[in-house]
Amino acid sequence: MAQISTPPGIELSTATHTFLDQPQQLFIDGTWTNAASGETFDTINPATGELLARVPLADASDVDQAVAAARAALAGKWGQINGEQRAQQLWRIADLLDANVDHLAEIETLDNGKPFRVSRYDVIFAARHFRYYAGWAGKLEGSTVPVSIPNQFVYTRREPMGVVGLIIPWNFPLLMAAWKLAPALAAGNTTILKPAEQTPLSALRLGVLLQEAGLPDGVVNIVTGPGLPTGAAITEHMDVDKVAFTGSTAIGRKVMAAAANSNLKRISLELGGKSPNVIFADADITNAAKGAAWAVFSTAGQECVAGSRLFVERAVYDQVLDGLTLQAERIRVGNGFDKVHVGPIITETQLDRVMSYIESGKASGAQVVSGGERLGDELANGYFLRPTIFAHEDDSLDIVREEIFGPVVAVTPFDDWDELVSRANTTEYGLAAGVWTRDVAKAHRFAHAVQAGTVWINGYGLFDAAAPFGGYKQSGFGREMGKEALELYTQVKTVWVGV
Ligand code: NAI
Ligand code: MG
Repeated sequence: MAQISTPPGIELSTATHTFLDQPQQLFIDGTWTNAASGETFDTINPATGELLARVPLADASDVDQAVAAARAALAGKWGQINGEQRAQQLWRIADLLDANVDHLAEIETLDNGKPFRVSRYDVIFAARHFRYYAGWAGKLEGSTVPVSIPNQFVYTRREPMGVVGLIIPWNFPLLMAAWKLAPALAAGNTTILKPAEQTPLSALRLGVLLQEAGLPDGVVNIVTGPGLPTGAAITEHMDVDKVAFTGSTAIGRKVMAAAANSNLKRISLELGGKSPNVIFADADITNAAKGAAWAVFSTAGQECVAGSRLFVERAVYDQVLDGLTLQAERIRVGNGFDKVHVGPIITETQLDRVMSYIESGKASGAQVVSGGERLGDELANGYFLRPTIFAHEDDSLDIVREEIFGPVVAVTPFDDWDELVSRANTTEYGLAAGVWTRDVAKAHRFAHAVQAGTVWINGYGLFDAAAPFGGYKQSGFGREMGKEALELYTQVKTVWVGV
């Protein structure tokens, strides 16, 4: 059995031990089953490098089973129940998430490494998502359409897409599953959920809760495995109607190509970012420096919205750099079960990738103001990095252009408005942006000028089930959350009636 060590004084719940002691299986058609090939892969604890569990590696034949189950479920009871009944299902799921918050948060912290307190928030927000979309389940209205042809009554219906594949990354495993499952189920779809291979456990535990909630068999199927073969088997499948994907822009392109080369399935993509965060001289500088630190260092920078390019008006540049450094040096990095602010990088591979960006930044002449090293001693077996601040005046550097997905910020001064807007928008990405100023008009002007799907004014990284979220440019398309997400999981049918 896997070894599960926690810091001194930390006891995991019995529920978590029980869950980790049992063999992990795929969830297909309401049944727990091994992969057809019998193959497994390891998921590890990034805080310790220890094996947590062996998880089935699903291949195309397992995905076929899951898709067939989802297709059958659509034609079965699930396809017949009304919106109010779907809402009740979603509420039950939310209640079960809330009832298991500590247990699920333990699993998330073990598998992903993030601080336990943060994992708890993820579970609570996941529950809120299900409640928010429960509210929509019975309100998916069509419209009546006045047409110019006489004696015709025309109306629209909002129907489910059908069988939907949900492919999610490792940085918010349970929460991102909820971002996709909740609207997909509210709209009456059936689903195949594929968690990231680095963090499959919370999704598998969620499967048990979905059963407890009484969801009919086959409505949610959970297949675990890497992009190849598991993810690709979903995106290439001829009987999957839609894929919702969150991950890297490189894989987003592959998802789009797979859709084009198979059945033209619908896709929505939430991809990478290199988000600008701007501090004007008239901002509350202490607050802004603190906010800018959290914008990039929370979740060890492993957030698609990370405020990884910080633009500071020159008059306050040194002051902000000092404030940011102070914040960065106060951040406690360590095992998520200890009293820390930030946990590890997800894998050794990702750590190496981030370190190579840090080396490239140094080599290209950017100045390391703080951090830049891996943490050793009792943290040496995990993948921990110090929050890292680079100062630069050259937007062509790799550390300024490319998504690092680690606790690394590139700080630069700016002098005037046109320069700022042009530099902020000189990126292939467009996921998010931040702006800090006391001048309300300037804040809105920037919010309108920046090419990003979300803009935070005097804040950063806030999310709510009701607020749409998604990318401009190569950060993807489609909006999750809010009313907009329902567009991703429904299609419009127009009905003409001769009267
Ligand atoms: P990734 O894009 O490879 O993985 C995301 C998900 O896609 C996982 O579930 C993975 O199994 C699946 N996947 C991989 N290849 C696939 C394929 N060919 N077909 C279908 N599904 C596939 O991201 P990865 O490798 O974990 O991280 C690499 C970089 O991606 C990070 O350094 C970061 O820059 C970016 N990233 C961005 C995220 C975001 O939230 N925007 C989340 C995770 C990673
Ligand atoms: Mg893991």
